[in-house]
Amino acid sequence: MRNLFVKSDLILGFTFVCAIVIFVRGVTPTEVFSAHVSATGAIYLPKDFRFTMVHLGSWFVPQGEASGFHDVYTEAGTAEVYRKTGEFPDGATLVKELRGGQTGNYTTGANVAYAVDTVKQWFVMIKDTQNRFPENPLWGDGWGWALFKPGEPLKNVATNYRVDCLGCHIPAKANDWVYIEAYPTLKPRVGDHR
Ligand code: HEC
Repeated sequence: MRNLFVKSDLILGFTFVCAIVIFVRGVTPTEVFSAHVSATGAIYLPKDFRFTMVHLGSWFVPQGEASGFHDVYTEAGTAEVYRKTGEFPDGATLVKELRGGQTGNYTTGANVAYAVDTVKQWFVMIKDTQNRFPENPLWGDGWGWALFKPGEPLKNVATNYRVDCLGCHIPAKANDWVYIEAYPTLKPRVGDHR
């Protein structure tokens, strides 16, 4: 008799847990596909990306508002997939960090340019192959688009990617809006070994 009760309690408990799992999965509006994106499409600056991501390449802009070094990062796994398929996988993250630059004379030569500690801003793109946030003006053309200022890693200051980002990325449209020519890490290289 006692055994029977224990059994039915177990069955009841199991059914309850299943019901909760089904309920929670059912009401979650969007499956979370990136650690840097909320369920409603808010994008956050990836934490500690300089330690957790691979460096894809750098640009040096000699003058103007964007002058200095533009260092670009992505996940190691994303680089691996891109090398094999030539495409950015769903959830891929691209981070571009803008730093001020200096020049100096070194034992390597005169006017050697190097990056200094002043970060100007960070640009972030998150690959979305599913068009998850059609109503959100920061998502479209296969990506989520974001801009962060120093001290505010949770606040995307871009408001509309078509206005704030897309126009300047048109020259890279054929490469999924990414200026891949500066990212040799994405290309399989002869003689690579690990
Ligand atoms: C003034 C033109 C301009 C604007 C505005 C602009 N970009 Fe870019 N972006 C570029 C160029 C050019 C590059 C590559 C060369 C460089 O950094 O100088 C680039 C590179 C990037 C990269 C590195 C990966 C890649 O595409 O090569 C990211 C990430 C990025 N931009 C995101 C954004 C986002 C997000 C916005 C809007 C919030 C934005 N950009 C607005 C011109 C622009």
